[in-house]
Amino acid sequence: MRRFCNRFLPALLLFALAFPPSPTAAQAPDTATGSDGMVVAAEPFAAEAGLEILKQGGNAVDAAVAVGFALAVTYPQAGNLGGGGFMLIRMADGRAALVDYREAAPGAAHRDMYLDAEGNLVPQASTVGWRAVGVPGAVAGLTLAQEKFGALPLKKVMAPAIRLAEKGFPVSERLAQELRDAAPLLSQFPESRRIFLRNGRYYEPGETFRQKDLARTLKKIAKRGARAFYQGSIAKRFAREMKRHHGLITRADLRRYQARVRQPLLGHFRGYEILGAPPPSSGGVAVLEMLNILDPLLPPDAEPLAPQTIHLMTETMRRAFADRARFLGDADFASVPVRGLLDLGYARALRASIDPARASASEQLSLPDPPGYEARSGNRAVLAPRRESANTTHFSVVDGTGNAVATSITINSFFGNGVTLPGLGFLLNNEMDDFTAKPGAPNALFDLVQSQANKIEPGKRPLSSMSPTIVIRNGEVILALGSPGGPRIINAVLLVLLNRLAFGRPLAEAVALPRYHHQWMPDTLFLEKNLFSQEQLDALAARGHALRERESIGAVNAIERDPATGRLTGVSDARRRGVARGF
Ligand code: DON
Repeated sequence: MRRFCNRFLPALLLFALAFPPSPTAAQAPDTATGSDGMVVAAEPFAAEAGLEILKQGGNAVDAAVAVGFALAVTYPQAGNLGGGGFMLIRMADGRAALVDYREAAPGAAHRDMYLDAEGNLVPQASTVGWRAVGVPGAVAGLTLAQEKFGALPLKKVMAPAIRLAEKGFPVSERLAQELRDAAPLLSQFPESRRIFLRNGRYYEPGETFRQKDLARTLKKIAKRGARAFYQGSIAKRFAREMKRHHGLITRADLRRYQARVRQPLLGHFRGYEILGAPPPSSGGVAVLEMLNILDPLLPPDAEPLAPQTIHLMTETMRRAFADRARFLGDADFASVPVRGLLDLGYARALRASIDPARASASEQLSLPDPPGYEARSGNRAVLAPRRESANTTHFSVVDGTGNAVATSITINSFFGNGVTLPGLGFLLNNEMDDFTAKPGAPNALFDLVQSQANKIEPGKRPLSSMSPTIVIRNGEVILALGSPGGPRIINAVLLVLLNRLAFGRPLAEAVALPRYHHQWMPDTLFLEKNLFSQEQLDALAARGHALRERESIGAVNAIERDPATGRLTGVSDARRRGVARGF
């Protein structure tokens, strides 16, 4: 490998000189500094709910749980009680945990449930309406995190969310617009139409949005914990409505659901320890696998936006996403070679397969098996010919003692499957689309080709790309981050990590720099529109990349902590107009 670097270093340097960083960058992110606590989230009322809890003596987990419940009220586009996610926690005393509260397939789900008699995908079956729903994990996950790591009573932590639901909050321009944009989806379901579209009298910016049903649901949870949701009156009503609309989720499914505490994945990059989310997310595996490949591949003085850097990064992304497609799924159900994929010898083999001058063709990519992988398990993605969009929210919290939380929560697409459960006030997810509905065929929302490892099975959790990530140096948290964006999450997180840790850019710049994305299939290098120069695009096309410009890639909400001073810097990506709030 050293020989490889020596051979190509001069060429890389030449390119770095020939192509200075892009003159254009995305808009400046929202930033804040503080030393007692920091919350970075999609929406100001939820961020302030987190600060309120920190000021009442709550720790980062209490605050994150408060933000999570508040987002279910103030950011119904993605915040939720009807979805799921992953919460990565690193306490100042060294404890680390990943709370997996990903949705699970209902007991009546089966492999071919989204295919017609001819084996074709039924349009919208996995994305809209009652049958697209996985058993929600949000309430189980938030309350479990709170119970295990929080310092305050649940009731106190949920108080801001209950207040926001009961008394209401002024509708922002963004919410007014996004509700209007979602009208075609929400108006298909009477309860969603009533609550979110006011039966056609759309909310205007500045009007107060009160959610009485949701407030009632939240109060029950605050009083009785997750049991209220999974076993009590909420579960009863949930299951009754499901049955009435031919959905699959039963009371038994709800009762059986459990959030799980898992060991976070640990990787190393140039003296940093990186914690990531294990399966059923692909995020941690993909980010850490890419860092392993890139560590010796990127020269120390590489420029983040030089075409040669983008080329090497793209080839790395292509390989990690090919592995995502080949091997990843819920490891409680499929044999997933996590250790092999993170093996340094395996990274070396993948690195050796990268041509420093030319793009590989995804369809012809032939990668070795990771060590320890048993070919028998039959997970392989079978490629089908290529065929011809979504919403999550990430928030990060760090408190004054250095406890840190990075958590991503989702109902998959904007406003999920469109269904609000009558009388309960919350929208449901369409996370079932994250499964492999048909091996070899791209999924509906993100064009992801996936394998049998991610086929639908009762109780199984669909493969996610959410990548809550925490970076540690000398035993202390220095960075917590994550993003929405489906598979683009993985690359957005990777790019921000590298911009900060490898290219030495300040966090705000690391977040603002233009982004690009490759996910193996389709074999296309997506670049953020209008942020790359013609010279950059030409140089990439000359290496054989098929380029396509697209709207923004991800929206990273990150916090940096300076271990020497305890100073916190919050940065919220302008791409989705989130906020950083600290004190
Ligand atoms: O878990 C996943 O990977 C997806 N359900 C995330 C969806 C998402 O990020 C949409 N946001 N823009």
